[in-house]
Amino acid sequence: MAQSDEATLREALADRYRHVERIGLNELASGNLSVRFGDGMLISPTGATAETICAGTIVRTDLDGAHEGPRRPSSEWRMHAEIYRRCPDAQAVVHTHSDNCVALSCHNRPLPGFHYLVGTFGGPDVPCVPYSTFGGEDLAEDAAAALADRTACLLGSHGMISRGRSLDEAVTLAHRLEIMCRQYMLALTIGEPARLTDEQWREFFDRYAALSYGQP
Ligand code: 13P
Repeated sequence: MAQSDEATLREALADRYRHVERIGLNELASGNLSVRFGDGMLISPTGATAETICAGTIVRTDLDGAHEGPRRPSSEWRMHAEIYRRCPDAQAVVHTHSDNCVALSCHNRPLPGFHYLVGTFGGPDVPCVPYSTFGGEDLAEDAAAALADRTACLLGSHGMISRGRSLDEAVTLAHRLEIMCRQYMLALTIGEPARLTDEQWREFFDRYAALSYGQP
């Protein structure tokens, strides 16, 4: 890939990193963003904040974590790398600690199919993978396995991660999941909400495939 493409991607990644904070999905140094680049990726540096991130601090790394330069990649590089390995479609990955995703993930509960827009993540629910230590191989394995047939999942007692065919799509999915976890927990305040039936999901997925509803 040409140098100018790398420069453009670095700018876009820093811009979306700030945007994700602006819309309230991350605060301080929580969360990380990456885009696929050649055989590897461009990823936010560990400890980045919306104030400190810029194109020059973004780290170019291969999928085994080898990188050059003064900055270290996000401590979650393994999780991003494993998703790129297993999901050929993934061009960008977004990890957040957004409030409502964290709240649900701390109960180790999936987001169930309480609303038809849950289906925009690729199935009738959004799974929650078990807790394991940040930055580790177990977390990378579990998250990548969950994202084989979903575009996002919750990470137990941690947050969420999404993959997109573009950076904008991965950010939009992270935003949508935060909204839907908020709405689910609002619905829970007056009892466990109904789930869509198998027949309703069949109809939804037929229509969704035809319309690409909500895709940026
Ligand atoms: P990094 O600052 O290393 O990206 O870590 C933040 C985080 O969210 C870990 O899960």
